[in-house]
Amino acid sequence: SLAGLAPKPPLGWNSWNKYGCDINEAKIKAATDAMVSSGMKDAGYEYVNIDDCWAELNRDANGKLVPHRTRFPGGIKALADYVHGKGLKLGIYTSAGSQTCAKTMPGALKHEQDDANSFASWGVDYLKYDNCNHDGTPAKQRYQAMGTALANSGRHIVYSICNWGEEDPWVFGPQVGGDLWRTTGDISDNWNSVLSLLDQQNGLEPFARQSGWNDPDMLEVGNGGMTTTEYRAHFSLWALLNAPLLAGNDLSAMSADTKAILTNRDIIAVDQDWGGSQGRLLRDLGNGTQVWGKPMSDGSVAIVLFNRNGATSSITTSAAEIGLGGSSSYRLKDLWSKAESTTSGSISASVPSHGAAMYIVRREGTLATPPAPGTYALG
Ligand code: GLA
Repeated sequence: SLAGLAPKPPLGWNSWNKYGCDINEAKIKAATDAMVSSGMKDAGYEYVNIDDCWAELNRDANGKLVPHRTRFPGGIKALADYVHGKGLKLGIYTSAGSQTCAKTMPGALKHEQDDANSFASWGVDYLKYDNCNHDGTPAKQRYQAMGTALANSGRHIVYSICNWGEEDPWVFGPQVGGDLWRTTGDISDNWNSVLSLLDQQNGLEPFARQSGWNDPDMLEVGNGGMTTTEYRAHFSLWALLNAPLLAGNDLSAMSADTKAILTNRDIIAVDQDWGGSQGRLLRDLGNGTQVWGKPMSDGSVAIVLFNRNGATSSITTSAAEIGLGGSSSYRLKDLWSKAESTTSGSISASVPSHGAAMYIVRREGTLATPPAPGTYALG
């Protein structure tokens, strides 16, 4: 948004990855309740986002969107009141085209102000604006129209641009008031999808900023297609990228492992911290193992030692490689096991296949004043 409503990457949940079009009022309320009862709200999650398929296919006589009469009989305003009553915020979805992607509802192209006004009048806090069924008008123009409409709607609404990385949203996004922009096509609940989306983030680091986040798509943690080890890696890397963390699983039926991943506060803190740059690949060691790093605003560095290959591997980096040279002693915190240790500079872990070890690395006691945030030349 032009008001800069997402100074930190949004944390929340979205209905699409688990439910697709099979949504209704009860499921959105259940997700809201579970966000509170699971401890996710306490861990920082805030947005409950309805994705595609919440509206009637036809607009009303005044050209306004109509919530689906059987699946959302209470309407969106009542749902927003419910979500707000739990101390959370409500997100909604439409497309910068004639219809949404699932083609079950009208899109907002040429109806931008009407629809932004509806969202504002219902108390919506966040809009995901998709890219299906448009008429060839350049994306920047279509997304500008909604950015302006939101700014004129009278309500602060976070603006999530979802045009799959087409036409460089990381360039036009900030110009049209986008708070985040999808960088790729859709995630699916498998390991190859995670790897493919991850690799497509390389090079986009310079475009991320506060209220201008690169969005590698929502989380699949807990949806069943990957192992716990793989879901830990997915979550670790998305956090290192300062990605929006939007859970996409059934929050009311989480395994202990799923809940522990999604509520790992140390890792959420990495995601939410802006040290001047999102995380990036520092070194590909050539055998499927990689070192990723991200400067933290307090002068420490978050790292992920990532094993993409088929066997447990020992992965090693050094304080110098992650931009933290110049000390004789460092403190490490393992963000999964919570173990703390010290090192004179070498950082090493045995990482399972498809796993990620994640640490905060901090100079110990040798610098009177830490360097200013964002001054590390990582990589
Ligand atoms: C597109 C988006 C997805 C989801 C679906 C809904 O594919 O990229 O995230 O919103 O549409 O139809």
